[in-house]
Amino acid sequence: MTYKKKNSDISKERLEMNVSSKKVKEQDREDKKKDAKNIILSIQNASYRYSDADEDDYALKNVSFDFESGKIYAIRGRSGTGKTTLLSLISGLERCTEGEIVFNGKSLKEMNLDKYRNSDIGIVFQSYNLLPFMTASENIILSMDANGLKIKNKKEKAIELMEKVGLKEAYKDRKVLRLSGGEQQRVAIARSLSYNPKMIIADEPTGNLDKQTETEILEIFKKLAHEENKCVIIVTHSQNVCDAVDVVYDLKKVQER
Ligand SMILES: Nc1ncnc2c1ncn2[C@@H]1O[C@H](COP(=O)(O)OP(=O)(O)O)[C@@H](O)[C@H]1O
Ligand SMILES: [Mg+2]
Repeated sequence: MTYKKKNSDISKERLEMNVSSKKVKEQDREDKKKDAKNIILSIQNASYRYSDADEDDYALKNVSFDFESGKIYAIRGRSGTGKTTLLSLISGLERCTEGEIVFNGKSLKEMNLDKYRNSDIGIVFQSYNLLPFMTASENIILSMDANGLKIKNKKEKAIELMEKVGLKEAYKDRKVLRLSGGEQQRVAIARSLSYNPKMIIADEPTGNLDKQTETEILEIFKKLAHEENKCVIIVTHSQNVCDAVDVVYDLKKVQER
């Protein structure tokens, strides 16, 4: 009887050990999966209320999205759903009212946001935001200077970046105001790449372009994600953009939640 009891105790112990070692292995696998996911940016329960808004009037409420390197994302939402607000948070222009944003495992709260903006993320706007009376290459070089880059051959580097976005060298000395919308957006993308950021975020980058040009610009973003391992985040309401990306996140109006 005693012997039998001992035996069952031993097998129970073994079973428990097996279960706990299985649990450890499962946890290990989960951790590895997370690592393999290569998350560069994580938005965790982020909310934002503008300082002049009423106490419960949030522009953005409890948003949680993860972004990986090597992928291209669309954040879709109707007007007023907080897309531009979210990009201000991601790009470190504003800080979350609640929740947090984690870049490369570190909360933006603990980071020098000027440095983050000048080295880790490139920003592309709907209206390009180039200086029209300067040439394409001057616009790119200006950004290198503004970010304190110490590059020897800035013009060569600018031409290299222009080639990357499909602009011929002949365009380098052309004033921006003599370029088409699609060409200007290519210059703006080249400019955003001047300090080789890990992430590129774009607010309606194809909003002013025709569909064919939109597709061409999307190809550039896709290449940057898939061939250069950048994380590309595009805010948009274009179905064409949503069809082209790897992941689509939807933002809904705060009161619709
Ligand atoms: N500077 C601001 N001050 C107060 N409220 C703002 C400000 N900017 C935007 N909002 C409000 O925040 C909400 C989200 O705006 P926004 O992020 O611009 O949306 P989207 O880019 O999706 O159109 C809207 O209700 C808008 O009125
Ligand atoms: Mg907007």
